Amino acid sequence: MKLWRFLAPHMLGFTARTVSQAVVDKLRGAPSRPVQVADYVARHASPGDPQDVLRTIDRFARTERWLMNVGPDKGPLIQELAKRLPEAARVLEIGAYCGYSSIMLASTLGPGAHVTSIEIDEDAVRSSRANVEVAGLSDRVDFVHGPSTEMIETLEGRFDLVFLDHWKDLYKQDLQRIEQRGLIGPGSIVVADNVGDLFDPREYLDYVRSCGHYDSEHREATIEYTDLPDAVEISVYRG
Ligand SMILES: C[S@@+](CC[C@H](N)C(=O)[O-])C[C@H]1O[C@@H](n2cnc3c(N)ncnc32)[C@H](O)[C@@H]1O
Repeated sequence: MKLWRFLAPHMLGFTARTVSQAVVDKLRGAPSRPVQVADYVARHASPGDPQDVLRTIDRFARTERWLMNVGPDKGPLIQELAKRLPEAARVLEIGAYCGYSSIMLASTLGPGAHVTSIEIDEDAVRSSRANVEVAGLSDRVDFVHGPSTEMIETLEGRFDLVFLDHWKDLYKQDLQRIEQRGLIGPGSIVVADNVGDLFDPREYLDYVRSCGHYDSEHREATIEYTDLPDAVEISVYRG
């Protein structure tokens, strides 16, 4: 990612706000963002109500600290895709953060479906597990703690949907690993978040659009909790 893009005039408000929030947290010795979210959810969300947990996390992102969840703008796009999946769908997510998209996916899919989410950061895994538990969805979501590149090697079987939402420069190589391990088959849907220009997604987009294995569609969107431009790439695997 090219950090200078965050200094473009239209980005300055967002950059100033997020940097100042991070500096204030650092100076106060505040816990990590995922830990703050889990604490907020535990205090404010209604147990057993996934939509209320999502609304509570959205409220934290708007009133307390910005969060890099897929958020309420791009979320419905992911839900629309999840609704097309079979009842016993298997979903692979890379990048859990606070468990927001895991909750969104698991609650959209039926009780027979399952979400496996890989997350490298220990606090994020703990926060995601806690938030999923408050949502009452622990039996439908598993978190795998570790770096995607290594954890992909431990997975078995076919996934109907893969949601790429970790560090953007790993999207292409991790998708290729997923293909090589046979974790997707014809008809599997691969969704990549944050493929707007800001995130410098050219390498990934060139791959899914020209490797000959995908039918790929670009959807314009906005960066979570802002009106700044972003996009999502939806690629259906042909095999
Ligand atoms: C954008 S956030 C995920 C947001 C989440 N999907 C949602 O919408 O609620 C990105 C997450 O990816 C994780 N991450 C980054 N690189 C990773 C890697 N190589 N393996 C696993 N997780 C990674 C980060 O720790 C962070 O929590």
